[in-house]
Amino acid sequence: MQTSAKLSSAFSSSQLLDRILKRKTQKPEASSLDLEESAASLSCAFSDKAPSFAEHPTYKQFRLMEAAAERFHIGNPFFKVHEGQGGARTVIAGREYCNFSHYNYLGLNGHPAVCAAAREAIDHYGTSAGASRLVAGERPIQRELEQALAQAYGTEDCVVFVSGHATNVSTIATLFGPRDLILHDSQIHNSIVEGCRLSGAARHPFPHNKLDALEEFLASSRRRFEQVLIVVEGHYSMDGDIADLPKLITLKRKYGAFLMVDEAHSLGVLGAHGKGLAEHFGIEGRDVDIWMGTLSKTLATCGGYIAGSRALVDILKFAAPGFVYSVGISPPLAAASLQALHLMLAEPERVQRLRNNTRLFLSLAQAEGLDTGLSAGFAIVPIIAGSSRKAITLSNQLSSYGINVQPIIHPAVEEKSARLRFFCSSEHTEADIRRTVRVLSALIQEKQISDAEKTWGTAGTTASAVSFNRSSIPSDLAVATQMNQTGAAIQVLQTDPSAQGVVCK
Ligand SMILES: Cc1ncc(COP(=O)(O)O)c(C=O)c1O
Repeated sequence: MQTSAKLSSAFSSSQLLDRILKRKTQKPEASSLDLEESAASLSCAFSDKAPSFAEHPTYKQFRLMEAAAERFHIGNPFFKVHEGQGGARTVIAGREYCNFSHYNYLGLNGHPAVCAAAREAIDHYGTSAGASRLVAGERPIQRELEQALAQAYGTEDCVVFVSGHATNVSTIATLFGPRDLILHDSQIHNSIVEGCRLSGAARHPFPHNKLDALEEFLASSRRRFEQVLIVVEGHYSMDGDIADLPKLITLKRKYGAFLMVDEAHSLGVLGAHGKGLAEHFGIEGRDVDIWMGTLSKTLATCGGYIAGSRALVDILKFAAPGFVYSVGISPPLAAASLQALHLMLAEPERVQRLRNNTRLFLSLAQAEGLDTGLSAGFAIVPIIAGSSRKAITLSNQLSSYGINVQPIIHPAVEEKSARLRFFCSSEHTEADIRRTVRVLSALIQEKQISDAEKTWGTAGTTASAVSFNRSSIPSDLAVATQMNQTGAAIQVLQTDPSAQGVVCK
C-alpha cells in the first residue's frame, strides 16, 4: 500500500501535470480494424430508410409516456413557464405560487445588490467573455470570483467553469483514467457518473452514506489501482442528508485516495456562514483534495467551480476540455455570483433563517406523520409519496392550492421512494411553511381542506382544477413503467447511480 503522504503530495508536484497530460495523450485510438468490427456487428440494424429522430427509441418512449399521462389524467408537472423571478414566490400563468422548486436558498436571486453588480459588469465589459480564457485572455472579475471562492474554502486556488455539470464531467475525466478507480456514493449526481464514464476509470458506487461499505471495498481493492478517487456530495440533493466528512478524511488518508466533495447544495446551506461541509464540521478546507460547487444555486447565476491546490487548478486550467475549449464565464454572471458570495458571508442571518424554516417544515411534517426520508433539516425535505403516480398527483394537487413543488419519480429514484422534494429558502415565511404542511398533510391523508386554504394566491386556477380519477388507473407500476421516460429526462438533473460505465464489482 502506498502511504497517504506520498499520494496526497501528488497534487502539489508539477510532475503530476506532465503525468496527467501524458496519460491523456496515450489513450488508445480506435484502430481501423476496431471500426470494421463494430460496423460488422451493427450491420443487422441498418436499413435503407432515411433516418428520422421520430423513430428514435428514446422519442418513442417519450411519446408513450405522454399518451399514458393523458390517458390516466395525470397533468404534466414539467417545463412550467414562470413569468418572473424565481424564489420563495413565483408566478405561473398569472397566478402567484408559494414556490419550493427553486435553489434560491438565501434569497439572493434578484437581490438588488446582485442585480446591480451584474449591470455594472455589463456596462464595463459587455455581456460576453468572448472565448476560452486560455487563448483569448480573461477579465479581472473572473479571477476575483475565483479568489473569493478559494478564500471561502481555505484553499490555494479555484477555477470557474461555465456549467456546474460540465465542471464535474471535465474535472473527473481530466484527472482520472483507465488505471484508476472511482468510488462514489450511490446517490451521487449524474454529472459525476458522466465524468467517471468519460474518464474510463473503473467505477464502484457504494450504498448511500455507508462508509463501512466504502472501507470494505477500499481494503479489498485499493492495491489494484493507481489512483483512487472517493466522491460524495456535501449535502445530498435527493435526500437532504449530509456526508460524514471527518470519517471520509480518515479513510482517504488511510487508503491513499483523493477525496472530492460536490458542494452544489452545501454552499449557503451548511456551516454558520454557509461555507459548506468543512465549516459545518470545523475542518480545514485543504483536508479535501477537490471541492466542487455550482454558481446556480445559492450564488444565483450559473457555472461551476473547483477549489483546491494550485497544482490541481493549474492542471484543470491547462488540460480540462470544459475549460480549455469552452468560453470563460460571462462577466455579469461572475460579478453577480461574487456579490452573492459577499452577501452570504456578510449576512449569516440568511443561513440561520433558511435553517429555521427547514427545521420548522421538517418538524411539522413529522408531527403529521409524513415520511420525510433522510432529511437532516438544512434546506431539503423530501416527502416520500410511495409511487410515481402518487408523487405526480400530489404535485398537481398542491399546484391547485398555489404551492409549487416538483415530483421526483422512477427511475430517478426507486419506484417505492418516488417523492416530492421541497427546497426551502430563507425567504419563506412561517405562514408559508405552516400552510404548505397543512395542505400537504390533508391531501395525503385525504382530509377536508378549509375554504381559507383554497383561496390563497387566487388569480387563475382554483383548488378544484386538478381532479384525479383513481378508478381509471390500472396500477402504480404500470403508470411508472409508462412514465419511465419522464424520469429518464429528469434524471439528467438528478442522480443516476445505475448509468452504464465501467462498473467495478
Ligand atoms: C449535486 C449537483 N452537482 C452538480 C450539479 C450541476 O450543476 P448545474 O445545474 O449548475 O450545472 C447539480 C445540479 O443540480 C447538482 O445537484
